[in-house]
Amino acid sequence: MRVKDLIEKKKNGEALTDNELRCLIEGYTKGEIPDYQMSAFAMAVCFRGMDFEETKVMTDAMMRSGDVVDLSLFGDTTVDKHSTGGVGDKTSLIIGPVAAALGCTVAKMSGRGLGHTGGTVDKLESIEGFETELSTERFYELVKETGIAVVGQSTELAPADKKLYSLRDATSTVNSIPLIASSIMSKKLAAGAKSIVLDVKTGSGAFMKDYESAAELARTMVEIGKALGRNMCALITDMDTPLGYAVGNSLEVKEAVAVLKGEDIPDLRKVCVALASSMVSLGKNISLAHAEKLVSEAIDSGAAFEKLKEWIGAQGGNTALLDDPTLFPEAPFKYEVKADREGYVFSMDAENIGNAACTLGAGRLRKDDPIDYSAGIVLKAKTGDYVKCGDTLAVFYTSERSFIEGAEALYRSAVVIGENKPEVTKLILGEVR
Ligand code: URA
Repeated sequence: MRVKDLIEKKKNGEALTDNELRCLIEGYTKGEIPDYQMSAFAMAVCFRGMDFEETKVMTDAMMRSGDVVDLSLFGDTTVDKHSTGGVGDKTSLIIGPVAAALGCTVAKMSGRGLGHTGGTVDKLESIEGFETELSTERFYELVKETGIAVVGQSTELAPADKKLYSLRDATSTVNSIPLIASSIMSKKLAAGAKSIVLDVKTGSGAFMKDYESAAELARTMVEIGKALGRNMCALITDMDTPLGYAVGNSLEVKEAVAVLKGEDIPDLRKVCVALASSMVSLGKNISLAHAEKLVSEAIDSGAAFEKLKEWIGAQGGNTALLDDPTLFPEAPFKYEVKADREGYVFSMDAENIGNAACTLGAGRLRKDDPIDYSAGIVLKAKTGDYVKCGDTLAVFYTSERSFIEGAEALYRSAVVIGENKPEVTKLILGEVR
């Protein structure tokens, strides 16, 4: 088999066989196929696509390129959630303890943030003492004891994807549904959960800017997971506006704690209840309506907050911060962005709000950049709110005063204030089951 022939085949719009795809992924992972050939192949896929069978085989081959975690010792209750990434997305911190409080097993690997979106591991590390690097034995022990543990993603998981994703990033070949679906699903499947809930975001702060592409990605990933033996569902949720009010690591942890203590942050709670209900419904094999009732009860009774404390404490985190979130270290500089006109907040570009938080120190532009856990933004007005000239639109937190000017310019470019009240957009735009 010559790689050149496979590229030619794909360039002509033909489907590759099972064996051809597996050889391609294996050869690339082992370094036998050079980057220039793999990038030509990825570009051909961008233009010609892949059918479902090819996408499934490519996912399976990438999943098997490294460790495949076996969670079967926990039975069929293992559940996982994946979000395609958004701004202010702290849902994992809420729905993990909810699902665990209701008897599901959450043995989760999460990522760090890059660019305008945050990562769960960074948020967790903003809690003093919290350990995200555990030995496999300790990880399993904690999952057994408390029903939930979250660690950073192992580098041994789907190494083919790691290599291919950086190549795609550098060769403008990210934007292809078969390549995105196989990339995401290879990692999720290798992480081992029996049931997987996908939160596919769409809108200005999302990877998928329009609904149709998000829905197609969701359908493809759900079908791949089902074909490879998992219980699957996907929600397509809005990311035109940041989720909740807090953007930035410890600020988001504080907001997640508030939701678990029963504070009503409507958009955040709604998305979390929908995601957690899907997890519990799949993990416990019960109806969605029953799961929804249990999820609301677990939040309202404080059971999920107790589970959060148990989990954070078990991984070394200081639980006093959860009892009293004012104990989280506050950034030395606080700055209020004021409205320069009166009117309705007509739209918010979530991506640029994420970029503004990143500029304040909350995120990283390169993989190894340091992070300021206390930096970020608390929104005071969101899309649809009426503001007067001089009202506070947002509060910035940072450890570097000089970051404020650039962040403010980004923030102002992201928020449009106008005379007309915008239409209310739905939070949960679709689902695939
Ligand atoms: N996230 C991934 O993990 N892979 C992609 O291809 C795109 C987003």
